[in-house]
Amino acid sequence: MILVTGAAGFIGSNFVLDWLAQSDEPVVNLDLLTYAGNLENLASLENDTRHHFVKGDIGDFELLSKLLADHKPRAVVNFAAESHVDRSIHGPEDFIQTNIVGTFHLLEAVRAYWNDLADEAKSNFRFLHVSTDEVYGSLGKDSPAFAETHRYEPNSPYSASKAASDHLVRAYHHTYSLPVLTTNCSNNYGPYHFPEKLIPLVIHNALAGKPLPIYGDGQQIRDWLYVKDHCSAIRRVLEAGRVGEVYNVGGWNEKPNLDVVHTLCAILDELSPRADGNAYKEQITYVKDRPGHDRRYAIDASKIERELGWKPAETFETGIRKTVQWYLDNQVWVSNVTSGAYKNWVGKQYGA
Ligand code: NAD
Ligand code: DAU
Repeated sequence: MILVTGAAGFIGSNFVLDWLAQSDEPVVNLDLLTYAGNLENLASLENDTRHHFVKGDIGDFELLSKLLADHKPRAVVNFAAESHVDRSIHGPEDFIQTNIVGTFHLLEAVRAYWNDLADEAKSNFRFLHVSTDEVYGSLGKDSPAFAETHRYEPNSPYSASKAASDHLVRAYHHTYSLPVLTTNCSNNYGPYHFPEKLIPLVIHNALAGKPLPIYGDGQQIRDWLYVKDHCSAIRRVLEAGRVGEVYNVGGWNEKPNLDVVHTLCAILDELSPRADGNAYKEQITYVKDRPGHDRRYAIDASKIERELGWKPAETFETGIRKTVQWYLDNQVWVSNVTSGAYKNWVGKQYGA
């Protein structure tokens, strides 16, 4: 049994689907079901007794203590977080509450549970914290990619809150010997990605005939990884990672945002051409830049490859095509997740 937090969100739901496709070890899924959490992502597990969903907050120490005592997991994987940089700029408070205070309460509950385990279970237990490359800040054009030793220089309320949570996790290992693992991953894309983030937003807006907003000059660089590759990396780190270590996860796929948007437009032109025969790229619109926008992220994934033998299975070209096809095939999902609070969000960007 493993306890996975935030597994109704984008990466967490992909992780649980993947996990249960490969093993019969049950999963307890604790998720608050914020705007970003959606049980429809896990609809295929509706009658699957290996998946046990609990609605709740990682900051709820009592609930956590009860879940841990009842289910006795051998590991906790912490995905739960507020994850969208733009939202953190408009309103940082939820980010501080969930990403910092919530992670603290989760760590406290896990520490108490772990302390009381018998010797063997205690030494086999793992707390895996899922984090981001954004904690390292912004890279210069020719600087080497982020290694695990890169100093922390978070620039947005989101990345600062994730950095704080990483430090707490580290401290619980050094101070209390809690057996922790931390992964810092680059930008994910793939199925169930909420359409506030660049790739699903562009696909959604393109098909809806809306503008495709490019922040600033569109030359900011992100390093893209297909979500299932992130899931396989987390499984591998859980299985064989050295306790207390940090593993950077990435696919060596640096791309300027504008190139990503052009690629999406070209695939859509081929798979779902516009009714008027024009190209989707005509919908590209330059808008005001994100304040404090990090210019470049790039992950050096050589440690996880060298130590744990992990490599991504998808290239950007194969992964992005699968992703566009998934969105074309799952328009009902898109329309359901964009029907609620989302409507009040889109358009609030920086003068879009
Ligand atoms: P997401 O926003 O899609 O999902 C987050 C999930 O956490 C949602 O289901 C939400 O309901 C849940 N949640 C939020 N607050 C909670 C709380 N207080 N208690 C319990 N559940 C809560 O995010 P994602 O993109 O799937 O990211 C998952 C994790 O991976 C995050 O920690 C994020 O920082 C990290 N990460 C994301 C990326 C990326 O590209 N998306 C890359 C690297 C790391
Ligand atoms: O690097 C990992 C991080 O990647 C994760 O930790 C975050 O949780 C995740 O949201 C993602 O953060 P980004 O800010 O990089 O992702 P986003 O999709 O919001 O933006 C990607 C790039 O595209 C970024 O440079 C901003 C730009 N952008 C974004 C949107 C939504 C646009 O130009 N237009 C847009 O409308």
